[in-house]
Amino acid sequence: MFMKILFLNGPNLNLLGAREPEVYGRLTLADIEAQVRTRAKELKVEVDFRQSNQEGELVDWIQEAKGKFQVIVINAAAYTHTSVALRDAISAVGVPTIEIHLSNIHAREEFRHKSLIASVCRGQICGFGVKSYILGIEASVYVNAAVK
Ligand code: DQA
Repeated sequence: MFMKILFLNGPNLNLLGAREPEVYGRLTLADIEAQVRTRAKELKVEVDFRQSNQEGELVDWIQEAKGKFQVIVINAAAYTHTSVALRDAISAVGVPTIEIHLSNIHAREEFRHKSLIASVCRGQICGFGVKSYILGIEASVYVNAAVK
């Protein structure tokens, strides 16, 4: 059976392409998903790719991942810096989770330096644009192999 990775995208990432392209690039979220699917096929992993602007919906998806997905890769966007609920969901569910960001959050405004989810994630990838997503798949394969 192929391993399954749940990709979660938080608020405003549906606006990628048009949103602050100097920070986030010109690719849309659909373009990023297409690149993720190409790499997933090469690595023979299954991917479910979702986006929500609602914190509670992201919490629901994390809770439902247990037993269905081996790894979660999450770009929690602004909720990274504010959401105790996402942090608690990741911690409660126990599915290995990898935090990703397009931009280098540590090189930006101070309020972005703190991630409330980092301490319950296996690791953090940030600053590589769409490649942060591709590295997220590769890290998932590594984490899943290490878990077994
Ligand atoms: C982001 C970084 C966050 O600080 C920001 O709120 C986002 C996108 C990134 O991918 O670089 O919406 O998660």
